[in-house]
Amino acid sequence: MSIDQFSSRLIAWQKIHGRHNLPWQNTQDPYAIWVSEIMLQQTQVTAVIGYYDKFMGRFPDIASLANATQEEVLQHWSGLGYYSRARNLHNAAQAIMDEHDGQFPQDFEQIQTLSGIGRSTAAAIASFAFQQNQTILDGNVKRVLARHYVIEGWTGTPKIEKQLWALAESLVPEQEMGAYTQGLMDLGATICTRSKPKCELCPLKSSCQALAENKTKELPTSKPKKTIPQKQTTMLLILDGNEVLLEKRPPSGIWGGLWSLPEISMQDIASEVALRRFGLDVEAEEPLESIQHVFTHFKLEILPQPLSVTNRPLQANMPNTIWLQIEDAIGAALPTPVRNILLNLKR
Ligand code: ADE
Ligand code: SF4
Repeated sequence: MSIDQFSSRLIAWQKIHGRHNLPWQNTQDPYAIWVSEIMLQQTQVTAVIGYYDKFMGRFPDIASLANATQEEVLQHWSGLGYYSRARNLHNAAQAIMDEHDGQFPQDFEQIQTLSGIGRSTAAAIASFAFQQNQTILDGNVKRVLARHYVIEGWTGTPKIEKQLWALAESLVPEQEMGAYTQGLMDLGATICTRSKPKCELCPLKSSCQALAENKTKELPTSKPKKTIPQKQTTMLLILDGNEVLLEKRPPSGIWGGLWSLPEISMQDIASEVALRRFGLDVEAEEPLESIQHVFTHFKLEILPQPLSVTNRPLQANMPNTIWLQIEDAIGAALPTPVRNILLNLKR
């Protein structure tokens, strides 16, 4: 689909089905538009309206806002939340008085230097107030674009973000910037909603790739959950009567220098390891219930494998190992899950 079709269908749709009578529309006053865009950054339209009217009643222009105390500005913001927005608004109004003779700047770069105004908010103000062909890209727009063009990958990564900005820029029409920008916002807020988008009512449905590929549910790709890796280990519970064999762990790494149960990898056959490493004849018992231990960077599932000693020759030299009565072992310098295994054994 050509770019023209994208923007012209959106503009045509906005004129009929978009929102028109919000208190900050039907004005070209950059101040009135700026205040609305800041309020709308993290707050729904319905919640904003009442606050907006009161705020504009008390601070009708940049000078009145700049001359107010921070206290009073915050009072008028009270209940809207994210109060740094109000402090930034107040600071920026003072900067406009000091640095721009009280006139809201029209230069796109200068708009972005004002506190609290990022690239997308600056573009919204520039397109609504000054009809500049600037590109917005807020959460709603990201969702529309990620679906319409099937852009996979979490939209918060720099790579995807860059891709979306380039795409959004390429779609900007030459005319009717206000209707286009408002149309993108309205489409995202009312039709291309996060869940259950109303595709049958969408002006872009004939060209929407996500709709064609049945991917509207999975797009935009959600933020990856932090998964910490799950590891597994088998610990040998080598028992000779009431004695248990402990092995000292290497000085570095997890549990460095602590006494612990000998560990083997899953593939090893426990009794063979016992024979090879410790010169013991053993008989394997039923494995005990596994224990989950959580570290900062991974989870460890421990499978305790009991082995009863059937023959324990006198050993001259078994470095880093010790036979202890279970009671004494419990009191030794052990990792917590190992102590718990021994405590369970006693019960
Ligand atoms: N969200 C952010 N800006 C908006 C606007 N101008 N109209 C409706 N919702 C918005
Ligand atoms: Fe969003 Fe559906 Fe429209 Fe595609 S057709 S842009 S998924 S509302």
